[in-house]
Parts: sequence; structure tokens; C-alpha cells
Amino acid sequence: MTPNFKAKGILVKSPGRINLIGEHIDYNGGHVLPAAIDLKVTLQIHKTENNLCIISSEDGGSFSFDIKQHLEISSTQWENYVLGVVDGLKKKRHNQLGGFECNITTELPIGAGISSSAALECGIAKGLNHLFDLNLSDIELIEISRMAEHNFVGTKCGVMDQFAVTMGQNNKLLLLNCESLEYQLIDANFSPYKIVLLNSNVSHNLASSEYNTRRAECNLALKIIQEQHANFNFLADVPEVIIESVKEKLPGKVYQRALYVSRENSRTLKAASLMQAGKIEGFGALMYQTHMGLSKNYEVSCPELDFLVGLTLDLPQVVGSRIMGGGFGGCTINLVKEDFVQNLMEMAEEQYKKEFDITLTPILVETSNGVEITNY
Ligand code: GLA
Repeated sequence: MTPNFKAKGILVKSPGRINLIGEHIDYNGGHVLPAAIDLKVTLQIHKTENNLCIISSEDGGSFSFDIKQHLEISSTQWENYVLGVVDGLKKKRHNQLGGFECNITTELPIGAGISSSAALECGIAKGLNHLFDLNLSDIELIEISRMAEHNFVGTKCGVMDQFAVTMGQNNKLLLLNCESLEYQLIDANFSPYKIVLLNSNVSHNLASSEYNTRRAECNLALKIIQEQHANFNFLADVPEVIIESVKEKLPGKVYQRALYVSRENSRTLKAASLMQAGKIEGFGALMYQTHMGLSKNYEVSCPELDFLVGLTLDLPQVVGSRIMGGGFGGCTINLVKEDFVQNLMEMAEEQYKKEFDITLTPILVETSNGVEITNY
């Protein structure tokens, strides 16, 4: 079956995301500070005359399914991002969906921690919502996309990625309360610094299972804390002093996770105020603290990421550096003086190659709008 992309349809541009600070906080009900970026997944989608859906991707081949049939989890992971979203849309608007063809191209590296998966999920969700007049709100589409990750992909993720990809705005950071989903737009004014991602090009396969383990450890910490402090509903809300007061009741690693979460939530709020006051150096110093916490207390780093952050420690032109996203590979995010960007990229590439014999991919990013749809 050859897809017919001459038919009238829509063009969906769906961005990846960065997160400045507030890592592993979304599923603990705290605050995060992400933004959508100028690297995107492009989806060309149009309706067909029947119930057949044909999805093709530049790199991953193609697959098809009947929209009226029960959808099963696929053994090919990227297909689950699409299947999970379509399944979620069907549950909300069963009879309104028909067959469609979708062609996917992407500028987003896969497994780099910049949410190529959320970009695909939210692009499909918003695109089909538009094409079939489903009338679902952005929040409903975000939730459907997040649940695709839970139910089809198997990662029990929080809401940050899907929220940033859908609601992002050019030149803005989103200070998002992941519990209430209230958010504040903060000017992304980093001048004279630029945002540079250093993609380690490693993606340790621990990522998904360890992610779910961290989530379970945080739930356990909260449960134990609640035995004495029933007023806390989310781990991110628990002050450090309370965590210290129940330290003997918490298993060692669980205590470390709780400590990190409490500190990171406070750091994020502090960082947002520093950003608003134009104090980028202070903001950057907090990013380093986050890295230490993610590496030592939360244990989601790896030698490659620690090395990349370590490279920047003595460079006055880099004010902040840390792991970004879930961890165990992917990118570090760095705030780098504009006139040093090229130097940093070259130096990091060379040193990284020497240390690990792996090619580094540096990426200069800007903030951008969330999912956008045009007709063609
Ligand atoms: C992944 C998840 C997010 C978030 C980050 C860590 O990107 O999808 O929900 O938990 O990890 O901050």
C-alpha cells in the first residue's frame, strides 16, 4: 500500500523539549522549568476513505492498522508512541476517528533525553484532534499522550515532557506546578549565555526500568513519611527537615531519593526567581547542584555524563551544566558564554572521544513554540 501524500491534509510541527532545572520532580508533584525547542518532528497527515491507518517513518519503516480494531502493544517501540495515542483518542472519541496516513520525519535525535517520544505522541494527538474535529482540550491531549507512555511504552513518566511539547512558547520557560498543572511563563533571557546540549550518544538500556524503580522508591518514601505526617500528598512538598526527622524509618536509598526530591523542588523555585532577576550565574550554580544530586543521591547518571559535566567545572565561560531528562545517557544541558560555544563544542568532542572513543554530538538550541499545525 503506497501512502498518498498528495491528498489534502495537515502538517504538524512538534518540538522536543529541554528542562533547565527540576529533574525527576514531575511525578513527585513538584515544579519543573522546561521549554519547547527549535528541533522538531514533522508529521504529514491526511484522512483516507476507509478505516486503514498507514504510518511511515523516514528511518523506522512503516506499519498499518485498522482504526476500528482493538490495538495491541507492538514489539517495535516507536510504533507504540503512535498506537498508544490513537488508543487513548479512541477511548475518548470512539466513532469520530477514521483511517489516515501519516508520514514522519524528524530532526530530533532518539534516546537523547530531549523527548523525541513526547514530540511524536503530542504531534499525533494534536494532529488527529484537528483533522477529525475531536474537540479535545490541550490538557486532555497531554494526558492521552502521557498515558500512551504508561500503557503502551511502559515508562511511568510524569507530565513534564508532554506539557512542554504542547504548551511551549517562543522565548519562554514554563514554570510548571506538576500537581495542579498551573504554570507561569518566564522570559528565557539567558544573555550572554547560550544553551548547548552535549549529546553523549549513549543510551543505557537501564533507563526505563530504573526510571520506574525511582518512581516506586519515591512512592515508598512518601508512604513512610505519611505515617507520621499525613498532611503531605506529594514527596516534593516534604521539607528536608521532615525527611531528616524520619531518616531511620527510610531504607538508605529511599532516604537519598527523598532528600534529592525535596532539595530539587526548592532549587527549582529558587532558580526561577534568579532567572527572573537576570542572575544567570546564580541559576547556573544551582544546575551544578542538581547534577550532584542526580549523580550521588538519585543515582541516574553514568560515567559519560559525569565526565561531560566534569569537563566544564573549571571553565568560567560555562556557568551551569547537568544531566538533562531521565538520565543513564542522553544529553547534558550547559549554559555557555556566546563567544565560547564553538570552543566548548570542539574541546568536549575531542576530550570525550579520547576518554570513551565515542563521538559526541553538540547541539545549540533555542526555545520555540509548542505543537503547531498548518494545512497543506
Ligand atoms: C523523562 C520523563 C519525564 C521526567 C524526566 C525526568 O523525561 O518522561 O516525565 O520525569 O524524565 O525529569
